[in-house]
Amino acid sequence: MAEYLNRIGAGLILLDEEALSYDFVPKEIVRREDEQKTLAAMFSAIGTANMSCRALITGNVGSGKTVLSSTFADDIVQHYTGVRNIKRVHVNCRNHATTAQMLLRIAKELDERHPERGFSSSEVIQGIRRNLRTHNQHMLLILDEVDHLLRREGDDPIYQLLRIDEGRKESGTLSLILISQEQILDQLEGAVISRFGRTNHLALKPYTAEQLTAIAAQRAALATRKDSITKEVLNLIGQASADTGDARVAIELLEGAAKAAEKEGTAEVLARHVQKRASRRGRQVEPSVIDELSQHEQLALLAICRRLKKDAEITTGDAEKLYHVVCEEFEVKPRSHTTFWKHLKSLETLGLMESRMGTAKEGRGRTQFITMPDSLPGTMESRLEQTLIR
Ligand SMILES: Nc1ncnc2c1ncn2[C@@H]1O[C@H](COP(=O)(O)OP(=O)(O)O)[C@@H](O)[C@H]1O
Ligand SMILES: [Mg+2]
Repeated sequence: MAEYLNRIGAGLILLDEEALSYDFVPKEIVRREDEQKTLAAMFSAIGTANMSCRALITGNVGSGKTVLSSTFADDIVQHYTGVRNIKRVHVNCRNHATTAQMLLRIAKELDERHPERGFSSSEVIQGIRRNLRTHNQHMLLILDEVDHLLRREGDDPIYQLLRIDEGRKESGTLSLILISQEQILDQLEGAVISRFGRTNHLALKPYTAEQLTAIAAQRAALATRKDSITKEVLNLIGQASADTGDARVAIELLEGAAKAAEKEGTAEVLARHVQKRASRRGRQVEPSVIDELSQHEQLALLAICRRLKKDAEITTGDAEKLYHVVCEEFEVKPRSHTTFWKHLKSLETLGLMESRMGTAKEGRGRTQFITMPDSLPGTMESRLEQTLIR
């Protein structure tokens, strides 16, 4: 067999690619504990017969709206087993953007044989109600990407749903979670929101580097061989995606880096695999930025690049030592400790490197680590050497 084919399925790093795919839903989500509690408080009445609950979740792409609501719905269904028969229905309004399509999707979820056409909206809604009552079910309906529906139809379909029990001797047929991107909120403003009440609005913040690291770590644990990716490299993934706050970007970086490492035949994901993928996201440093640095900033950066070619991070203490070595090489007198620190700060401000506080490997206490999440230290090194020699 051709030697290169041996690589296929060798699984040096990746054990289960599924866990890195777009639509994979983890059983549990990480680092949204407060938001889960907030949602739970909004739904505190859902275990009670004849009661309904509502929530509006907003946030940017990749802030976890879909995964938060679907894991929440699963947990609710589980938690109230034997107490209340809750049926969870998830409709993505991007694919069902008219009232008729959205309602049909719900009706079909409850009864596969529901006819495609021939009924008005209110007839379909009453059919949905009867079906739920017959089976003694309470529906937890998630209307995801609801802005698509609102743009086409206005508030009307939401009202119709909220009035499902009107004129009946019943109540509590359905609970509703609406999901939308932040910017679309204006369109939801007014009637619907006041119906939901401001207190039922949960706005998800974009993820921080630290949260993105935790999300990448969860996926790495599910998808990759043990010990094939270090904590330092996971930190780098978190930092490289933090400008977006988008969990999808972090997961894609992990996948890209793992695949790049496997293709190379390495059994470990290294910093450069992440950096190479991240640098494609188009935030590369202009060469002119490097040329315009002061000589000592360039020397400091060169020292850092040389280490970060091999390691994911370097402490500021080590960086200063290496800076002294580089100064010797270029036969210039090193600047004072304080000036060196100022240089580090300005390099960070320019986006040439990033720093984070962490626990020191040796000794106690905390120390500062320098990383380059989205540039290639090797490329920057040669650029710096050219400039410094001139
Ligand atoms: N807190 C989290 N824990 C684990 N995985 C998450 C978390 N937040 C998001 N993800 C994952 O990141 C991706 C994007 O999340 P998603 O819920 O689709 O975002 P949104 O709906 O806000 O665009 C999904 O693969 C999701 O499973
Ligand atoms: Mg979504």
